[in-house]
Amino acid sequence: MKKFAVLGFGTVGSGVVELFYRNRAKIEEKAGAPMELAYILDLRDFPDSPYAEKFTKSLDTILADKDITVVAECMGGVEPAFSYLMRCLQNDISVVTSNKELIAAKGAELLAEAKAHSCNCFFEASVGGAIPIIRPLHRCLAANDFSAIYGILNGTTNYILNKMLTDGMTFADALAKAQKHGYAEREPSADVDGHDACRKICILASLAFGKHVYPESVYTKGIREISLEDAAAADALDGAVKLIASVTRLADGRILPAVMPMFVPHENLMSRVDGVFNCVEVCGDAIDRAYFTGRGAGKFPTASAVMGDVIEASKHHKTVFSQYWTDAGTQDFVAGIDALESGMFIRFSEDADAEQVFTAVSEALQANGISDDTLSATTNACVIPEKMNRTTQDAVLKALADKGFAAAHWMPVMDA
Ligand code: HSE
Repeated sequence: MKKFAVLGFGTVGSGVVELFYRNRAKIEEKAGAPMELAYILDLRDFPDSPYAEKFTKSLDTILADKDITVVAECMGGVEPAFSYLMRCLQNDISVVTSNKELIAAKGAELLAEAKAHSCNCFFEASVGGAIPIIRPLHRCLAANDFSAIYGILNGTTNYILNKMLTDGMTFADALAKAQKHGYAEREPSADVDGHDACRKICILASLAFGKHVYPESVYTKGIREISLEDAAAADALDGAVKLIASVTRLADGRILPAVMPMFVPHENLMSRVDGVFNCVEVCGDAIDRAYFTGRGAGKFPTASAVMGDVIEASKHHKTVFSQYWTDAGTQDFVAGIDALESGMFIRFSEDADAEQVFTAVSEALQANGISDDTLSATTNACVIPEKMNRTTQDAVLKALADKGFAAAHWMPVMDA
């Protein structure tokens, strides 16, 4: 008999409990042994729950049961989740978590503690919801030298951007709908301002490059400035506006993580990943590119990843499979956004004749030594796929403003 406990009975925690009982026979078959959900920790009372007898308010009750081998944390937030998981590990209990805020802030410490106790610390659910990405990245793809990872990592903002484009829905209405579906964080700013996606790219970057990348080091811009006009102009130029979390390795060996809205051309699969779906593109020297996609938020998609980790941790108790990265003691290996070289999607404040727009942009590019071969333009926007550094981008914007084509809004362009 393998015994485990769940910490937190919110959206994800209750999903884990329900999923376990719904698919118990299959789960036990995969685990190779009978399993028992022995405790659910929550400070609230659930007297009418069918699992009422399993609830406890004290971690000590769980730690006192020496048959518990795995604890799944679905509480959210850094504390008390961090202290609780450290205590579990110190008691030789493996931990599983869906908590991206916790792993992005304290991953290196938790992984070190897990290793010291020959336990596992798994967090498949922390990035991409249902999508298997953590385990593939550090196991199946372990032989690669990674050059970049790009992701649509926040279901709420992807849902909002999609609703703005397809239904002409306002930002506020689309956010309210995402909240109703249970996708959004408790504090909507975590989604809308890019912090949630930032935590997730920190986790992927730490995993891929072996050093803890902290959220404070990452340029993060959300989707508040994206308008219906931007979404429509991008569509007219054969692309979509997406909140992209990325990390790229630079020629000088540093890495550049960032979260920002980008124009994604329709040739790239990411432009067609809609609604609550997430997508991760991994670029490595052996694989070229691999894409992973699936539901990035929601009760059961996230519970699926948590339960998968619980099965894995139960099966391999005291055999360390955890991925590992360390705190380098400095964030000098992380570059700032000024190091980004990218193309530009520009939406202008005034409409004009499409040919006039094309000519004006073409001249501004040529004046700065940039080819206009791949330029495309409409009446109120243009896409320049050619990569430019920040100084050249500013010069192009200035040259356009001088010609009477002031930018209402611009964003970087993702590769096709
Ligand atoms: N608020 C998050 C999202 C939940 O929308 O993606 C999953 O991490």
